[in-house]
Amino acid sequence: MTKINSLRGMPDLYSDDLISWTSVENNLENIFKSYSLKELRTPILEYTDLFKRSVGDTSDIVNKEIYAFNDRNDQSISLRPEGTAGVIRSIIEKKLDQQQSKIWYMGPMFRYERPQKGRYRQFHQAGIELLGYEEGPADFEMISIVSSIINELKITDVKLKINHLGDNESKAKFSRSLVKFLDPYKKELDAKDQIRLEKNPLRILDTKDTNLQKILQEGPSIKEFISDSANELLLELQKTFSNSCKLEIDYNLVRGLDYYTGLVFEASSADLGAQDAFIGGGRYDNLSSMLGGKNLPAIGLAIGLERLISISSLNKADEKKVIFITSTSNIAPLAFKIANQLRSLNSSVALDMDLTDSSLKAKLRRANKTNASHALILGDKEIDSKNIIIKSLMDDTEQVSVSIEECLDFYNKI
Ligand code: HAM
Repeated sequence: MTKINSLRGMPDLYSDDLISWTSVENNLENIFKSYSLKELRTPILEYTDLFKRSVGDTSDIVNKEIYAFNDRNDQSISLRPEGTAGVIRSIIEKKLDQQQSKIWYMGPMFRYERPQKGRYRQFHQAGIELLGYEEGPADFEMISIVSSIINELKITDVKLKINHLGDNESKAKFSRSLVKFLDPYKKELDAKDQIRLEKNPLRILDTKDTNLQKILQEGPSIKEFISDSANELLLELQKTFSNSCKLEIDYNLVRGLDYYTGLVFEASSADLGAQDAFIGGGRYDNLSSMLGGKNLPAIGLAIGLERLISISSLNKADEKKVIFITSTSNIAPLAFKIANQLRSLNSSVALDMDLTDSSLKAKLRRANKTNASHALILGDKEIDSKNIIIKSLMDDTEQVSVSIEECLDFYNKI
């Protein structure tokens, strides 16, 4: 029989990998709660139209990367490529689009991209959406959250870039001016940038072509098209957060999703290599009305968990582990009784019951190969004397026979 492999770009996360995952997820959850955010879980599948209307049907995400297929009822549905669209869909459906809410979510997202280091087809995001708040304090709160994440998770070598895309009108004016400026250079653009120029000119600013980057330096800057208050917001943010993270205004920063207006930002780290952005977000005041809801000003962000985990230098708490060994299977009932007492006493320790029916010697040999600190041994002799042996697996000479009460006491203090 041929074996079946996992899908390309969709790795399994296995045992040891998950130690750092859980630690980062728990830390993020604590940060979210400290900002009084409430969790929302939306489905992984949504109607394809939701993403077409929100992320934009000229975006790479919807054009080339979305996992869309027809269900048994011939409806086009998609695996979510991001979380914001589903959150807003849910808020509108629950008729919560006229009030303020502060939301966080975490889960898998799917994009059919070319897999490479830091880029997967199934990846995970943690996201935040502050809904119902006009430009102002919410923008400061959002950058404050970014800076808390960077500092709490001990990320070094971070660059946080911010820009302001203005409202729809200034965005459109800037786009027109960009198209006019680039008209004489049209033939020099590669195929990808030519399509961008035609369909979504702002995305040109994201070009990887160094020649075009040089040309663009002479071109119009969004700085001249956005309001004074927008420019002031950028400067104020820079001033407010300069001590907690390296914040840089980059007038060429644009984002890959169409729904943004106002402030946009991206945090990247040189330690990540080519795929260096680990947080991206911004304001999207029109998304709710684009999806048939009320006018709901909003700002949000998403963190790429694979990338964040790979650069976080959080101390990964060592797992505390003890192996429970019995000499014969007929003493199992007593062993299970004691083991359960121990577990309910101190749930921070992993009590690994050896479930094989091999000899005591073989069980001890196996225990020595694990990362457990101690073995608790219940042999025939111990059954009679109602004792238990605590054997250190770090130091071969350390071994004591204690009463069950003393064993409980020992376990509680590990
Ligand atoms: P995004 O910039 O498309 O924004 O994604 C956010 C983060 O997800 C990226 O910075 C990156 O770390 C991670 N990411 C994206 N694609 C992949 C991939 N293929 N493999 C691994 N990681 C990836 C959004 O998704 C918006 N929904 C953010 C937002 C929320 N804006 C407002 N609210």
